Amino acid sequence: MNDLLRRMLFLPDQASDYARQVDGLHYFVIITTMLAAAGVFATAIYFFVRYRRRADTDVTPRVEPKAIHEVIFVGLPLAFFLVWFAIGFPQFAKLQTPPKDAMDVYVQGKKWMWKFAYPGGPNSVDVLRVPAGRPVRLLITSRDVIHSFYVPALRVKQDALPGRYTQTWFNADRPGRYEIFCAEYCGLAHSGMIGELVVMPAEEFDQWLATQGRGVAGSQDGTPVPGEPVRPASNVIEEGRRLASEQGCLKCHSVDGTRHIGPTWVDLYERNEKLQSGKSVQADEGYLTKSMMDPAADIVAGYQNVMPTYQGKLAPPEAAAIVEFIKSLKTPAVQSGPSEGP
Ligand code: CUA
Repeated sequence: MNDLLRRMLFLPDQASDYARQVDGLHYFVIITTMLAAAGVFATAIYFFVRYRRRADTDVTPRVEPKAIHEVIFVGLPLAFFLVWFAIGFPQFAKLQTPPKDAMDVYVQGKKWMWKFAYPGGPNSVDVLRVPAGRPVRLLITSRDVIHSFYVPALRVKQDALPGRYTQTWFNADRPGRYEIFCAEYCGLAHSGMIGELVVMPAEEFDQWLATQGRGVAGSQDGTPVPGEPVRPASNVIEEGRRLASEQGCLKCHSVDGTRHIGPTWVDLYERNEKLQSGKSVQADEGYLTKSMMDPAADIVAGYQNVMPTYQGKLAPPEAAAIVEFIKSLKTPAVQSGPSEGP
């Protein structure tokens, strides 16, 4: 079949299990609503015929409502909604909780391109390479306006917001090339803000990543792939270390666990921080970024009057590099059995 016709008539490729589940729910909703509509139409037609006016003297009898009718009219649609919810909510919850072992990739939307950075690995523009069959978590932000990262084949769409991190994740299981679109109108070349997701067999991906100058700042020893923009590979963590020193962060935050003016950065990532409101939050990427950009905000553990704001001083990718550096200072958790430590 003609490719255009196929794309008009059918849903996009399914590149993950999640995509198949979303389509399953989609078809289930379509089929159940069509059956419900058929039932309504059939009843209406039956009533048109059965109760049609035959003579001028016909009088429509008054029918007293019965409780059983109410139960059916309310209960049946409710039952449909509840079944959809029971199928859809676990899918939604799954999309909100990336697995612990997911590989992180930073995504930055910018008029009008997508930039990707692998922690400790290469950067790329518009081409996102991922291993098949392994979970990938995307930490998404924007350099300018709101964009939306959209991969139809994964059924994943997530807004990219300036000054904030959003996240999503996927586990693509079919090697191939899939389109990445921007799904939020962002100016003149919005429609051209198209990237490509390249799902590679896992071993091939490992080989590719190994040739990308992992851990070597500024090196460019990767083999260029024809038709793909080549960018110098750089180490995000090293970049973060350099920026942290340059911006004076390390005057207040230690990287050896000792307490200084501010909290040490060792094991800061994922630590539970107490807010003024008494609530406790986990210091994730969004939290750390917010602490840098808006330390007076009440959603961070206000070191007001002490911690300066870096709004306007650090571009989002620079803040992201510092966050990666902080993450690298986390002592790996000891893998123990299912029991909790003391
Ligand atoms: Cu970016 Cu539309």
